[in-house]
Amino acid sequence: MVMLDTLFEKASETRKNAYAPYSSFNVGAAILTPSGHIYVGANVENVSYPCGMCAESGAISAMIAAGEYQIADILIVADSKNLISPCGAGLQRIAEFADDHTMIHLADLEGIKQSYPIAKLLPVAFAEDLKK
Ligand code: THU
Repeated sequence: MVMLDTLFEKASETRKNAYAPYSSFNVGAAILTPSGHIYVGANVENVSYPCGMCAESGAISAMIAAGEYQIADILIVADSKNLISPCGAGLQRIAEFADDHTMIHLADLEGIKQSYPIAKLLPVAFAEDLKK
C-alpha cells in the first residue's frame, strides 16, 4: 500500500536522526492521521536516563503541535533481530489518540513485519473518562 510505504520511508529516515548515545538503539516512528498527514519522531535519550523520550512520544508531540488528534496508523522501526513493539507506556500514549481502527505497524529495516489493531497490543487500556 502506497501510504504505508511512505510511512515506512518517513519513519526510517527519521530513525537515522535519533539521539541515542546511551543505548545505541535508534528508533523511528511515523503517524498517519485520517487527513492523510504524516508526523514523525525519533527517540531522544538523556544523560539522566529516565528523562529520555521514545520515538512514539516525539511523533505524537509533532501531531499535536500541528493541531491533529487522531492516529489512523503508527509505524515503529528499529534495526533489531527481535521486532520491537511499543512498551506499555507508549501504548497508553497511542491509545489516547486511537480508535478501534487504529493500526500499529512494527518494522525492521526491510519493511513492515507485523501489524496489529491497538486493542490486540493493549486490550485493557486505562480508559476512565477524566476529560473536563
Ligand atoms: N524506544 C523507543 O523509542 N520506542 C520503543 O517503542 C521502544 C524503545 C527507545 C527508548 C530508548 O531510547 C531506546 O529505544 C532503548 O530502549
